[in-house]
Amino acid sequence: MAAPARRAPQQPQQPQPQPRHLVSATASYANFYHNRVLEKYLKQDTKRVTLRQLTVFGRNLTEDKLLRSANYVRAELPVRLAHRIARFQQLPFVVGTNPHIELVYRMYWDAFETFRALPEITSLEQNRVFCDTVRSLLDTHLVVIPQLAMGIAESEPHLSQHAADKFMNETLRSRIGRRVLAEQHIALSADFEGSRPARDHWIGIVNSKCHARDTIDKCARLAGSIFRNIYGVEPPAITVDGFQDASFIYIPDHIEYILFELIKNSMRFTLEKHAPEIAARGVAAANAQPHYQTASEALASAAAAAAAPSLTPQPSARSSHRPRRELPLEDDDAADADHRRQPAHQAAASEHNPAPGQTLAPAPASAGAPASPLLPAIRITIGQSDTQIMFRISDQGGGIERQIFDHIWSYSHASKRRALAVAAPAHSMPRLAAKLNDPIPSTLHLGLGLPMSRVYANYWGGNISMYTMEGYGTDVYVSISVGNQSENLLDDYKGSGADVHGK
Ligand SMILES: Nc1ncnc2c1ncn2[C@@H]1O[C@H](COP(=O)(O)OP(=O)(O)OP(=O)(O)O)[C@@H](O)[C@H]1O
Ligand SMILES: [Mg+2]
Repeated sequence: MAAPARRAPQQPQQPQPQPRHLVSATASYANFYHNRVLEKYLKQDTKRVTLRQLTVFGRNLTEDKLLRSANYVRAELPVRLAHRIARFQQLPFVVGTNPHIELVYRMYWDAFETFRALPEITSLEQNRVFCDTVRSLLDTHLVVIPQLAMGIAESEPHLSQHAADKFMNETLRSRIGRRVLAEQHIALSADFEGSRPARDHWIGIVNSKCHARDTIDKCARLAGSIFRNIYGVEPPAITVDGFQDASFIYIPDHIEYILFELIKNSMRFTLEKHAPEIAARGVAAANAQPHYQTASEALASAAAAAAAPSLTPQPSARSSHRPRRELPLEDDDAADADHRRQPAHQAAASEHNPAPGQTLAPAPASAGAPASPLLPAIRITIGQSDTQIMFRISDQGGGIERQIFDHIWSYSHASKRRALAVAAPAHSMPRLAAKLNDPIPSTLHLGLGLPMSRVYANYWGGNISMYTMEGYGTDVYVSISVGNQSENLLDDYKGSGADVHGK
């Protein structure tokens, strides 16, 4: 993307309505002075943090430590933003003129200017004002992911798929990094000021004992609740086996996003494969009445469903309009029905083979209950080693066709462009934190779930890989590094996983 100073003269255009804070940005970045300022920041390297540093620093907070944290964030964010702005300037000129890309570019300049104008923070009062500024920028930037995805998808004729995906991966990873620093400081400030309840093992936004099984249960409950609201039937059971007591230092928001997206995919495609009519009717009904539900609403309705005595959940506010249906099985599924009716934990236990000498948790239990006894269960296995925690999510959702599988990690492939184009006019651009509590319509599929999950996993040195058997099902492997891993900000990560398409 050309620097604003080099922008070619354009035909006069009708003024477009812009967010208020961007109006000044348009004019003010179009001069040489601003790129000189940018260069000054580009000469500075980013100071990457490790998860352990975040937790060690956040323990036994004092006022002095909190102010040091504030000044680190104040100094570090403009350096990181400068590196991002420079990458935008390297995009082909025509890509930089795409309105979605240009909007994000201006937002980054705006944030850069805001941070670099901030004086040193020397008191708690100044820190409170600083936290408010950071919070409001985090909020303003919630449109960044969908805007970027749309801009990159529309730029397909001018950017190779490889270049587009590399740009997106780096931009999103860098975005995660900036948000981690900002959110960690805001959370530490809240902890220090006593403005939020203390929680065992939490240091800011990091949980030093993130429990694998509990995380799966939470994501399964949430995905199950959304599934019920869309389709009006119970979701497939989730069985969990392996090292159920595994725990690790992590930012729960990150692993929850990943597991939630994978479970959501598995549930959706299991229904589409085994009861396609119900799946289609559910989507049509949900689209006719788009419904925005936050995670807390969905979890509340999941709790109500779990409290119900039978396998049929209490109808949620949304699904109560629609009659609850029995799942009619396809003919070729009937032979498997007995196996499916077997309680999920028994089915999983019979397949469960611990390695000699290893101690594993007892019989796995179904997560996210209640569940449909008629759909094949989704099986999640937790693995653990000295350096990694692993999750394998196995479903019988029919697998993935070759044409789709080859582009599942891409942001700019034609299938993603179509999804975004359909989504955007109907719902306008959603605001996306890429966290569990994004209030977006449940049937809006932007095609970002898998690539964004991999960006999250890569950020702390982990990876996601996928194995699919077309016509049968899919296995997804998520590995999480548990060493003293530092942020991985560039797209030079060589994950060990491979994606395999079997036919
Ligand atoms: N478990 C699965 N079984 C079958 N197909 C899958 C599975 N997971 C992903 N896919 C295929 O990969 C595509 C991309 O998945 P991804 O999660 O990135 O996007 P999406 O689910 O379409 O949209 P979003 O995640 O934004 O709601 C899906 O549309 C689907 O075709
Ligand atoms: Mg998805």
